[in-house]
Amino acid sequence: MWQRFTERARRVVFFAQEEAGRLGENYVSPEHLLLGLIRESESAAVRVLQNIGVDTAHLSAEIGDQLPKGDGKRGQDMKLTPRSKRVIDLAYDEARQLNNDYIGTEHLLLGLIREGDCPASIALIGFGAAYEPAKKAVIAVQSGSESSKPADITDTTMKGPAMGGVSAMRLRGRDLLSIDDLTRDEIETVFHTTGVLKESSKNWEQQSGLLRDRTLAMIFEKPSLRTRVTFEVAMTQLGGHAIYLQPSDIQLGVRETIADAARNLERWVDAIMARVFSHNTVTELAEYARIPVINALSDLEHPCQALADFYTIKEQKGELKGLKLAYVGDGNNVCNSLLLLAAKVGTSMSAGCPEGYEPDVHILARAREIAGDTGAAIEVTRDPAEAVKDADAVYTDVWASMGQESEKAERAKTFPPYQVNAELLKHAKKDVIFLHCLPAHRGDEVTDEVMDGPHSVVFDEAENRLHVQKALLKLFVQNKSFKEFVGPE
Ligand code: CP
Ligand code: NVA
Repeated sequence: MWQRFTERARRVVFFAQEEAGRLGENYVSPEHLLLGLIRESESAAVRVLQNIGVDTAHLSAEIGDQLPKGDGKRGQDMKLTPRSKRVIDLAYDEARQLNNDYIGTEHLLLGLIREGDCPASIALIGFGAAYEPAKKAVIAVQSGSESSKPADITDTTMKGPAMGGVSAMRLRGRDLLSIDDLTRDEIETVFHTTGVLKESSKNWEQQSGLLRDRTLAMIFEKPSLRTRVTFEVAMTQLGGHAIYLQPSDIQLGVRETIADAARNLERWVDAIMARVFSHNTVTELAEYARIPVINALSDLEHPCQALADFYTIKEQKGELKGLKLAYVGDGNNVCNSLLLLAAKVGTSMSAGCPEGYEPDVHILARAREIAGDTGAAIEVTRDPAEAVKDADAVYTDVWASMGQESEKAERAKTFPPYQVNAELLKHAKKDVIFLHCLPAHRGDEVTDEVMDGPHSVVFDEAENRLHVQKALLKLFVQNKSFKEFVGPE
């Protein structure tokens, strides 16, 4: 098996054995291979990781932190675990695809990313080493056309001084207030990480080390079923903890200022998730808290929902580019996030909304600007049938959102022509899927026959809220075991 291995790739395996031995194991897992790979610091694999902005020192620290610490017996001729064997098979496959007649460290790296169902893959992806960018970087390194500076690192959005050492990590420590906070590549990373975590969701033991001992504060100014439960379950499954703060608990801006609440929370917890009436509240929380703040619905956007929606569409249809999404009803927070996400991933979107209930003008303009680059068509029409025409996916939401209860009666007069029913769905493609963020008001914006019919994927969509939440937490939340938190050695 080893004849085609380069000198450096052999050394990686040797280092992996040493790492395993140091940790008291007598087998070599993908995590040991990754530690070995990073130790071989002059290798093509490490150059690839650096070129795509992965901080290898932190990655190594995180992996080391997740592995059980043994007695440190020295092993010889250690066996590879079945997952490590699969990594080697995948490395061979990568070499074949790249027409290389040797197995180098770069092939081992791609094999580790592709394996998917192990902490090494999850950590790599979480640090920004998704398969596509890594493969591109391997090709660049092999052809000598690599750029000398790390790619696409959004330093300007990094948070305060405690995070200073992690500038190479793309999403870690940042806020998610709007879909527009994410680049197209970062959205891909979120989807990829979601896929890996969903695929390995039965692997409780492996996932429970990912955010061990981390705490999420969940601020709710409004009710919730899905968002509250999925964020809380996500933290539990990743080994952390979530604190539910109901409206009467902290009374943001009433008991104390939003800034003071933020400046308290950042001293105790690792991230804040907030569901608020005014979007300004999440932006203010983010401004004053030097920990990630995630918007879990405001009057302007619902980014976590839109990510789960597009992940579901991708899962159902395979591709996002070139599809048409129709949104029918109120041009609300959900519609706004969907417009931005559609534009970013190249899905055309047509919103059928009554006069006076169109999406936010600034968001619409921004979505059209982004769509100029991706080729998506972004339209708003008064005619629901026109919006739905030839759509691959049809989406609706309640006619009056939380906070608009006083407008309910008025809206009930305007919206009935925008009900998604079997008749309206006839205008879409035959294999159309139906989505709804839920809760649904059956008989208002959607009929039972559509909600419960063959096109409906609403409960798969609701399930995906959990997998996306886990990916977001894994990607955005800082792991405090990193060295900068305990000071330099
Ligand atoms: N879709 C959604 O956010 O549901 P909840 O309001 O129940 O959280
Ligand atoms: N537009 C709805 C979404 C609920 C998940 C609201 O804001 O109430």
